[in-house]
Amino acid sequence: MRITMVGTGYVGLVTGTCFANLGNDVTCLDIDPKKIEKLNNGISPIYEPGLDEMIERNHDAGRLHFTTDAEAAYQSAEVIFICVGTPSDENGHADLKYVLAAAGDVGKAIEGAPGPTGGDPEDRRAKIVVVKSTVPVGTNAKVRAEISQHTNKPFKMASNPEFLKEGAAINDFMKPDRVVVGVDDIEGTGGRMHQLYEPFVRNGHPIFVMDIPSAEMVKYAANAMLATKISFINEIANLCEAYGSNVDEVWRGMTSDARIGNKFLYPGLGYGGSCFPKDTLACVSMGKESDTPTPLLKAVHDVNQQQRLNFYDKIVQHFGGEQNLAGKKFAMWGLAFKPGTDDVREAPALTLAKKLTDAGAAVAAHDPVAHQTTREVLGDTISYHDDLYDTLDGAAALIVCTDWPEFKQPNFVDVRTRLADPVIFDGRNLYKPSLMQEEGFTYLSVGRNPVNAEAVKAG
Ligand SMILES: NC(=O)c1ccc[n+]([C@@H]2O[C@H](COP(=O)([O-])OP(=O)(O)OC[C@H]3O[C@@H](n4cnc5c(N)ncnc54)[C@H](O)[C@@H]3O)[C@@H](O)[C@H]2O)c1
Repeated sequence: MRITMVGTGYVGLVTGTCFANLGNDVTCLDIDPKKIEKLNNGISPIYEPGLDEMIERNHDAGRLHFTTDAEAAYQSAEVIFICVGTPSDENGHADLKYVLAAAGDVGKAIEGAPGPTGGDPEDRRAKIVVVKSTVPVGTNAKVRAEISQHTNKPFKMASNPEFLKEGAAINDFMKPDRVVVGVDDIEGTGGRMHQLYEPFVRNGHPIFVMDIPSAEMVKYAANAMLATKISFINEIANLCEAYGSNVDEVWRGMTSDARIGNKFLYPGLGYGGSCFPKDTLACVSMGKESDTPTPLLKAVHDVNQQQRLNFYDKIVQHFGGEQNLAGKKFAMWGLAFKPGTDDVREAPALTLAKKLTDAGAAVAAHDPVAHQTTREVLGDTISYHDDLYDTLDGAAALIVCTDWPEFKQPNFVDVRTRLADPVIFDGRNLYKPSLMQEEGFTYLSVGRNPVNAEAVKAG
């Protein structure tokens, strides 16, 4: 099929490349000329494992194109996927300005296109406009209305929320647990969407075709559930700290119950990224708009935001007050909101780095891939080091913020000798407290008793 992806970010670029990889003719459109120029020069604007090679291969094969020419991209497409950002606005609503701007352009392009009754048999079928961005229920109807402002020609709508995870995005898209498609006509549009996705579910996983409002809600429900699990275990971890329990043991005892399971229940600094924070807030905002209270999801968000501040308090209290941070240097391992990505949107590391530098401390950071994206937010208020051990020299403590695999088994002798004091604040519980004891560290983690330090009450 001829497909246009609108928005060449984490979702549009990965999904467009994967569609091309199965033989579709895909155009990735973006309003950012720098991104498109990079892609046309063979450079991916984002880090995602395996993506560079896949882009290059499909681009070279002539199936994957990059452009800023919206009119041509829309007119040539049979299926248009809107994958632009839907960030939170100042009230926590999903801001639809990018989605609706794209919809307006789609309407104008459809109006100016020769189809749908042109000579090409493909053109006899109306274009399908698919909203892949995560959007509040009712957005597809708004997109349809916006397009219809500009054209009377027929077009079809579909909702197709995306579930990929940054860091594992290609595998998630190529082998999805499920595909969700919302349509008005199950046979026509539903059938064409089914045809497009059928090669991705040869693993036997389902394609759920449903009504549009339900499809829109699925994505929010899924992300709100995952965010809830993280805030839940963090709240339990905080109770563990207050009462001297060990959250690792509690986790083992609790998750062996098959009704609970052990997925996505790891305590730490809380969630970040471009999805959970904004999608949880968008649910709360939908609740307000519809006069449907959502106190649980509001608490999930609040617990998450507090969690990184609790951790900062641990650092402050260990050093006897915020005033004592001034002039100290801290090593920071990990900036991205999770391993496998350069995405630092809502990353706990950036909150901590900012609080430390605001208090007058210096931060020497290492992340395998997220220096550039962090620099775009924090500039040179912190220093960036290609070698993780170079962050440590003379630092008052090491702070671990992201669970990158290469942080899991460092050379602890080097860590201990290069730090001014052998102190580790571990926001991802990467190390066993017993090992930290053996290695002679003062060690503070999440939901576990401190090693060689006074317990600091959470919250
Ligand atoms: N990042 C994820 O892991 C993920 C996963 C699932 C769903 N989502 C959802 O997918 C959507 C996109 O997220 P993302 O992380 O890919 O965003 P992103 O910010 O990485 O990319 C969005 C892109 O859209 C471009 N854009 C904006 N307006 C445009 C227009 N009119 N025409 C063409 N391009 C335009 C921007 O320049 C940018 O490159 C969001 O709604 C997000 O919630 C994201």
